[in-house]
Amino acid sequence: MLAKVPKPSVLVKFLDQYVIGQNDAKKTLAVAVYSHFKKLARAREDSAPIAKSNVLLIGPTGTGKTLTCETLSRAIGVPFVTAEATSLAQTRYVNEEIDAILQRLVEKAGGNVSVAQNGIVFIDEIDKLKSTDSQPRSVSGESVQHALLKIMEGSMVRLGSGQYVDTTNILFICGGAFVGLDRIMSQTQTYGFISTSKDDNQTILERLNARVKPTDLFTFGLIPEFTGRLPITARFQELSKEMLARIMTEPRNSIYAQFRDIFRTEGVELEVEPQVFGQLAEVALEYKTGARSLRGLFEELITPVLFVVPDQPDIRKVVITSLFTEPTLIRGETEV
Ligand SMILES: Nc1ncnc2c1ncn2[C@@H]1O[C@H](COP(=O)(O)OP(=O)(O)OP(=O)(O)O)[C@@H](O)[C@H]1O
Ligand SMILES: [Mg+2]
Repeated sequence: MLAKVPKPSVLVKFLDQYVIGQNDAKKTLAVAVYSHFKKLARAREDSAPIAKSNVLLIGPTGTGKTLTCETLSRAIGVPFVTAEATSLAQTRYVNEEIDAILQRLVEKAGGNVSVAQNGIVFIDEIDKLKSTDSQPRSVSGESVQHALLKIMEGSMVRLGSGQYVDTTNILFICGGAFVGLDRIMSQTQTYGFISTSKDDNQTILERLNARVKPTDLFTFGLIPEFTGRLPITARFQELSKEMLARIMTEPRNSIYAQFRDIFRTEGVELEVEPQVFGQLAEVALEYKTGARSLRGLFEELITPVLFVVPDQPDIRKVVITSLFTEPTLIRGETEV
């Protein structure tokens, strides 16, 4: 399986079917994941230890961080689990929580420990582990960072089931919103003077300015040992109105496609006109939860229609032209 890891360009093509935008992050992640699994394959041949390059994903909530990692792990065919750093910090038994994460990875691997040992673990909300945020009666963010360091480096972890999991080859991806990081970065920014001009160098500038230095993360509150183990960073951008609209319609399993399927099983064609997705995207923008609110908003729009359609078998087609007008119900002969 790992012998033929898809090329980064192939991985990005696969991601494009499910994740809208985030092109830089997709490339960075695809290359990181590709080289990780290449190294694993090579290490198996000459039994050399691998130098791991764990990845840090930075970006606002609901912009596709988890979705991208999950989709990548599907493309490669390795087990994938997510965990939240905050729940690690809220327990007094960090190691038990870490065991539980690895236990889930083994379950995802169908109980096969050696498959689990090549999996991907995504740890979200890593930014909440600021070393200053120590709460009473719970483990401080800093000691969670230390506990995570150990498994990221590679160690033998004994699970509750008595099985041992070697974490050496597991790829760890950490994620977080890192609110306030931009302010820290702008204070250490070397490229600030260029960004006053708004010419066609904009994308290059954005890339330079988007670079996160380990020292920025240190200032933010991650311990140096931790930032040192996350040499690769990928940034997820805030989603624009246009992207939010595309997210509802373009991905293979888009919300629109899912509801069209539901209506089809009722013998009804659902048609939502493009401007409606623009209107929904505008509302979603105000909610500031990235793409997360889209499903709820779309369901709110569809629910009244889905309520009446099954009762009225003569409805052939439903057309929605605006959030602010009633849907048009087109009727036809009832099928015998
Ligand atoms: N770029 C995107 N393309 C397609 N769908 C997206 C995108 N971003 C978010 N979504 C949708 O929004 C949902 C939430 O996204 P996801 O879980 O990836 O957010 P996240 O960046 O991990 O946020 P958080 O920081 O809160 O964990 C996804 O299940 C997906 O449906
Ligand atoms: Mg997430």
